[in-house]
Amino acid sequence: MALINENFLKLKAGYLFPEIARRVKAFTDENPAAAQRLIRCGIGDVTEALPEAVRGAMHKAVDEMGDRGTFKGYGPEQGYEFLRKAIAEHDFQARGMTIQADEVFISDGSKCDTGNILDIFGRGNKIAITDPVYPVYVDTNVMNGNTGEADESGAYAGLTYLKCTPANGFVPEIPVERLDLVYLCYPNNPTGAVATREQLEAWVAYALKNDTIILYDAAYEAFIRDPKLPRSIFEIDGARDCAMEFRSFSKNGGFTGMRCAFVVIPKTLMGRTTAGARQPVHPLWSRRHSTKFNGASYIVQKGAEALYSDEGRSQVKALVEHYMGNAALLVKACRDAGLAVYGGENAPYVWVQCPAGISSWQMFDKMLNEANVVITPGSGFGSAGEGYFRISAFNSRANVEEVCKRIKALAK
Ligand code: MLT
Repeated sequence: MALINENFLKLKAGYLFPEIARRVKAFTDENPAAAQRLIRCGIGDVTEALPEAVRGAMHKAVDEMGDRGTFKGYGPEQGYEFLRKAIAEHDFQARGMTIQADEVFISDGSKCDTGNILDIFGRGNKIAITDPVYPVYVDTNVMNGNTGEADESGAYAGLTYLKCTPANGFVPEIPVERLDLVYLCYPNNPTGAVATREQLEAWVAYALKNDTIILYDAAYEAFIRDPKLPRSIFEIDGARDCAMEFRSFSKNGGFTGMRCAFVVIPKTLMGRTTAGARQPVHPLWSRRHSTKFNGASYIVQKGAEALYSDEGRSQVKALVEHYMGNAALLVKACRDAGLAVYGGENAPYVWVQCPAGISSWQMFDKMLNEANVVITPGSGFGSAGEGYFRISAFNSRANVEEVCKRIKALAK
């Protein structure tokens, strides 16, 4: 009989979002009438139509595939040059960063990238995550054998948890100990917090001093409205030598169902062998991509490229404004209901403190049963998320207005 990867047995319960879906299904099966009025603000999944520029580019790409002369088979595993170039120019060079097209790797999603990246790192690294945290970082470390067992609070032995609370603005303090890998995500999922330039400068200084690699998840950078806030870690001097950055078209371009993202790995970013030799990580990821991935589809990459056209950029802006308008309404409704609210100003997530004495999952049940609204319990993101819940602003305006009414009614 084949041996299994026993690390999977250490994982706590189900992955958060399927677990929520399971509970919602049980509720709607039992309450078909309530199911009709159910509004889902749990998983951050986009709801608005794909930008017209994207659709046009994809129709054209489909036609190319229908013609023997322009048909494409396997593409470059690292992504087509046209998209890598558009990303390097628009997202980085136009903003004064020195990222080159061949430092950009196209993929089918940031969830996959942030999980798969562990393939290129060895065992025995000291790894830190924030708490609360996007659960993928934790679970993939568990699967890879980088942790011991979880304790009753759900914290895994061997991982360093950097607490994020209102007191530190949900941006962790610089650790006193040395770490090898640190996951940071700003704008943050789940808290909606943002990191200031000074905070990122302190993290980059720490990483350079300690030979730490920062795994920077900037999947929500498009939602930053304050021009003073950095949108990329590469805006910080020295970050090319200590960070890689994950980006996605899921939320800005409405690509959750299309699947296209990228990771930027500067050629100057180094890891080390057990013997202590410094080794660039860029060729390792390139090799990994060539072996385990055959590239995102040509049609989807053509759609993603169109997001950088003038038309595409104005359509992305409209989408972002729509969702951020939703976020503003949700923030106000929760504040009016007397709740402490964070995020929602430069991020599409609103992070709300539960009323006194109510746990995250109790709040989930209350919102589901009494308001027929699905939210995400904060404790699903880690023990420091207990006592909070997250509302996603990804929805239609009509649904968000209705959710606001229901929050108000619930508070009475
Ligand atoms: C979330 O709701 O946290 C996100 O949608 C998850 C994801 O992007 O994978």
